[in-house]
Order: sequence, then C-alpha cells, then structure tokens
Amino acid sequence: MKLISGNSNKNLTALISEYLDTPVTDCNIKRFSDMEIFVEVMENVRGKDTFFVQSTSYPCNDNLMELLIAIDALKRGSARRITAVIPYFGYARQDRKTGGRTPISAKLVANLITAAGADRVLTLELHAGQIQGFFDIPVDNLSASPVFEPYIREQFPDQPICIVSPDVGGVVRARHLAKRIGADLAIIDKRREKAGVSEVMNVIGDVKDKVCILVDDIVDSGGTLCNAAGALEAKGAKEVHAYVVHGVLSGQAVERVKNSPLKKLVITNSIEATEEMKAAHNIEQISIAPLIGEAARRISEERSISELFK
Ligand code: R5P
Repeated sequence: MKLISGNSNKNLTALISEYLDTPVTDCNIKRFSDMEIFVEVMENVRGKDTFFVQSTSYPCNDNLMELLIAIDALKRGSARRITAVIPYFGYARQDRKTGGRTPISAKLVANLITAAGADRVLTLELHAGQIQGFFDIPVDNLSASPVFEPYIREQFPDQPICIVSPDVGGVVRARHLAKRIGADLAIIDKRREKAGVSEVMNVIGDVKDKVCILVDDIVDSGGTLCNAAGALEAKGAKEVHAYVVHGVLSGQAVERVKNSPLKKLVITNSIEATEEMKAAHNIEQISIAPLIGEAARRISEERSISELFK
C-alpha cells in the first residue's frame, strides 16, 4: 500500500498515515512559471495499491487538476490500483441541470477522474448519494456519523436534543442521525432566492427549550446555517449547535458564523482549516482521519466497508 498526498490537505494525509502506520510516499508537485502542474512520484509504485489523497477544495480547479495529473503519473508508473481519496468532492453541488443551457459539472468531474485512470474513489458525505452513479468505477461514500454521533452523545448527555435539517434536501441525513441517537427531528423549509443567498421560511417541528443540532454536508457562505440558527432561536430553542462535514467557509463565512447565534459549529478536517477558522471562538474541527484510514485499509485488504457503519 502506498499513501500519497496532494497539496490540498497534507495535515489530513499525515494523520491518515499515522493511523495506518504507513509512511507518506514522497511526491514532488511543482508549478511551471505559467502555473502548469507537474507531478513526480519519487518512489517505485509498480504493482502497488496506491491511495492519492486530495480534496478538491479551494483553489478547487488547481486541486482538481493536481489530482488528475497525479492519477496519470501513478497510472504511467504501473500502479496496480489507484484509489482517488477525495475527502471533499468539490463540484458535487452541480449534480443536476438547474436551468436551460447549464452543465452537470459533478458528472463532468467524475468523467475526468475516471478518464485520468482512477480505479476507484473513496470519498466522504457526498452532497447527493446519487453522484456515486456518475462514476463507472466503484465509489465508497463514507458517512461522517461514526465520527459525529459519539461526539454529540458526549457533549450533550441527558439533555433533550433535536436534530435539525437546515433544508428539505438534508432530511435523510438528519433523520438518520436523529434515529441513531434517539433524538427528535425538525426541518427548516428554506427557499433560496438566488445563488449564495439563503432565506429561512419555516421551522417544522417542536424545538422549544431543546438543544438544537443542525446537520449538513457543506457550510459555504454560512447563510443557510446562520439563518437557520436565527429561526431556531426565534422559536425558543435552548441553544443551537451545528455539525457540518465539509467546512468550505468561503468569503465572509467565518465572520458570519462568529456573529451568529450558533454556540458552536463543528466541522471535520476534510478541508484544511485556515488560521481564521482556527481562531474563531465557536468553530471546532474534529478529525475524520481514522475513518478514512480504516476505509483505506479495508479497501486494501478487500474487506467490508459497510461494517464500519453498523
Ligand atoms: C445545500 O443544499 C447544501 O447542503 C448546503 O446547505 C449549502 O451548500 C450551504 O451553503 P451556504 O453555507 O452557502 O448557505
């Protein structure tokens, strides 16, 4: 097994390497002066089971291109199997046509990864499960619940908890978690007037005097979460927390979260945290390295991954 890292999240790869007790294979990723990317894997990978770790997070196009070129380098280096480990799969939100003459970019990116030569994909909490079908190679789409669930139990013992989906699209994810921890469920009926701006309409469910936990796959501008937190507070929630898998947190999002009614926003390290995120009083990052490491090990040993979620 060979574990190799792109530039997007070297800290996460280091933690996966620690979990697996496998060193990170030396890989030289350079830019030409016009910013073309060049990748050279510095160790022999012939016949090896290779795992290239790269989130296609900001700068998403550079990180995506780096992933594609690295896959090509591994393929031409005769790796036996190439698994693209993509903890955060950027472009996932573009999973359908939203109007005439618009793309389905998630499908295009899936095609690119497959055409580059990946044999399989290991990813975490895809925006929509159906994106797995955009690939004609096996995809393992991990759920973050084995990481979030024990942490929520530990943080809120003996308190009435209500798991809240911040929009109708996230109900399945929220219901799954609520069921596992035996909590109530509420849903926010959100209407988005235009891209990047969200508006809360209605809270469906009883949240009064409860600890409300918003769960979502992505926090980007922070609009969805902060508006939802405000709506829950207005409905009498005792306190509002959020557990979100991918902390994209672009633009003024960190500032927005800091000034919101959110007591705490917990994100994973699928995307490397910026200094601003680390300094925020109400943002905390927890590690998904053991989950990804264990899944990688099971892929390598041809063992079940679904057992991780029982
Ligand atoms: C939307 O369907 C996603 O699940 C997230 O709710 C959304 O991407 C969050 O975006 P923002 O933080 O910009 O409101």
